[in-house]
Amino acid sequence: MNKIIAIANQKGGVGKTTSSINLADALGLLEKKVLLIDLDPQANATSGVGLVPYDIKHSSLSFFTNTFKPEINIIKPDLAHFDFIPSNIRLASIEINKSKSAHLFMLKSSLSKVIDNYEYIIIDCSPSFGLLTLNALTACHSVIIPVQCEFYALEGLSKLLVTIKSIKKSSNPDIDIEGLLITMYDSKTSISSRLRTELIKHFESMVFNTVIKRNVKIREAPSYGLSIIKYNPDGVGSQNYLNLASELINKNIEESTNSEIEKDLSEILTLDSEDVDLIIRDHTNTNTDKKDEDYSHLIGLKREEINEVLGFSYNDIHSSVWMYRTSASFSLMKKNYLYLYFENEKIVDYKLTTFKINKGQ
Ligand SMILES: Nc1ncnc2c1ncn2[C@@H]1O[C@H](COP(=O)(O)OP(=O)(O)OP(=O)(O)O)[C@@H](O)[C@H]1O
Ligand SMILES: [Mg+2]
Repeated sequence: MNKIIAIANQKGGVGKTTSSINLADALGLLEKKVLLIDLDPQANATSGVGLVPYDIKHSSLSFFTNTFKPEINIIKPDLAHFDFIPSNIRLASIEINKSKSAHLFMLKSSLSKVIDNYEYIIIDCSPSFGLLTLNALTACHSVIIPVQCEFYALEGLSKLLVTIKSIKKSSNPDIDIEGLLITMYDSKTSISSRLRTELIKHFESMVFNTVIKRNVKIREAPSYGLSIIKYNPDGVGSQNYLNLASELINKNIEESTNSEIEKDLSEILTLDSEDVDLIIRDHTNTNTDKKDEDYSHLIGLKREEINEVLGFSYNDIHSSVWMYRTSASFSLMKKNYLYLYFENEKIVDYKLTTFKINKGQ
């Protein structure tokens, strides 16, 4: 099967580029024919395979200027087990100068020229969900979502899933979630194992069994322009990405012989309920009426006084609503927030809200 996989998450620094390069190389090592596309103007994948983005003449910008020619655009980086289409900062012009002719299907239509030549096409997306990433989500068969092991890992996941759902409804009805990939897993910290447990509890088989461990060699490899498999072939990072590649290959063999599994994977995208039920339910009113935690002593206070009482928070000084996280208890799937409403620079009301991640009803 020829499969286009976008590696996406609008959260920055979660391991999209690292996973794109290393998964592409691992698949190549396992004798799959692979094309990696850098679709991020930051061009980290391009420098990560040892190229200088500034020097690139024929970049992934060609997809959006109707000038894509496989024989010119596709290159083979030294020592890589995959073909590559690089990027550079000029790609940002697609997001900035929203030309009237730019549309969601430009990447898809260009890739139709090469899809038959590759078993896997991996697209490294940027952390912003502009036209570039939407093109990737329109062109792909499935999405790998890297989830970094950290306390805030799940924030933004709902937005991503809602975006994928709306793409499914509009420009790409067949889009599926290939899997959630846990990255930078640190067995020395309890957050890592708790995050994994929570993700499996809520997303079940959508979570890859393979976990990418936090590993200094993985971080070092791009500065040598090498994948982890070339840089540290015997290390844990190589093992992780080879395991991921095998899991992906096996999953796709199973899926093509067992449509039930495919159904299971896409279950989350086909819920009939409203978007809000898709993944995160906002139980906004559960605590509002009761106001069981009493913050009425805050009414009438000014902004600087709030900081003194509740501690500093990164709220916009001009905003009429401020938000504080109030959860004393540690939970990745349930978070309590306190909203403070200002009028004439003083607090006039507050609301307690619980965000609870829930896999629909
Ligand atoms: N398993 C890992 N162990 C240690 N460091 C890692 C690991 N995975 C990624 N990193 C490091 O974390 C940083 C962010 O990774 P990466 O660039 O892959 O994220 P990204 O999601 O592509 O970021 P962006 O959103 O900016 O495109 C990099 O410095 C990378 O080397
Ligand atoms: Mg990146």
